[in-house]
Amino acid sequence: APEPTIPGYSLGQPQVARAPYSEADLAALKKVMLFSDDDALALRQSKPILADQVDAILDVWYGFVASTPELLRYFSDAAGKPDAAYLAAVRKRFGQWILDTADANYDQRWLDYQYEIGLRHSRLKKNRTDSARSVAQIDFRYLSALTIPVTTTLKPFLASKGASPSEVERMHAAWVKAVLLQTILWSHPYVRDGQF
Ligand code: HEM
Repeated sequence: APEPTIPGYSLGQPQVARAPYSEADLAALKKVMLFSDDDALALRQSKPILADQVDAILDVWYGFVASTPELLRYFSDAAGKPDAAYLAAVRKRFGQWILDTADANYDQRWLDYQYEIGLRHSRLKKNRTDSARSVAQIDFRYLSALTIPVTTTLKPFLASKGASPSEVERMHAAWVKAVLLQTILWSHPYVRDGQF
């Protein structure tokens, strides 16, 4: 559900542009990724497991970014100094994103926000939401790459509430697909016209 109290979080808001891809495009992409109804169910099952661990998950993810200079630069100013306010503002939306990914309904409104998140990583909209003074874009190659640390570090959190090993595998596999699917959707602004 939308959390209007998170600054800059605008899923479902009228200012979010229509995505250049449709629900039919999404259905085709899911088919190719073997993203099934059971994956959507596994994601939903992960929500109550993850919901009260969001802060601890974000600590691990932010720890990875902070200890990886190649990533921290995207939250830093031209002199290389990390922008604490920018990091904190994005962190709130990132926490909401965990819950949104777990119970996404994959409608056009959801697709429109995927497009918006892609724009916010690209030079078209990065820094605008938080009035940050940081580097102009996140380089394309890192978007899908971050799927691996994000989902690898998620696994212990999926396992920490007593789910069986096979249920943990099932939820983890669904998360890998869901994050990769989103980073593919987010790639649109980086791809030349007509080539997405
Ligand atoms: C913004 C997730 C890749 C840096 C965000 C947001 C989310 C997110 C949920 C907030 C979206 C919103 O405004 O509602 C992810 C995921 C990634 C990924 C799941 C890949 C699996 C990366 C990479 C970097 C990065 C590789 C490089 C450090 C940022 C920055 C913002 C942001 C700087 C703020 C953009 C702005 O100025 O609005 N990300 N991200 N992200 N992410 Fe990522």
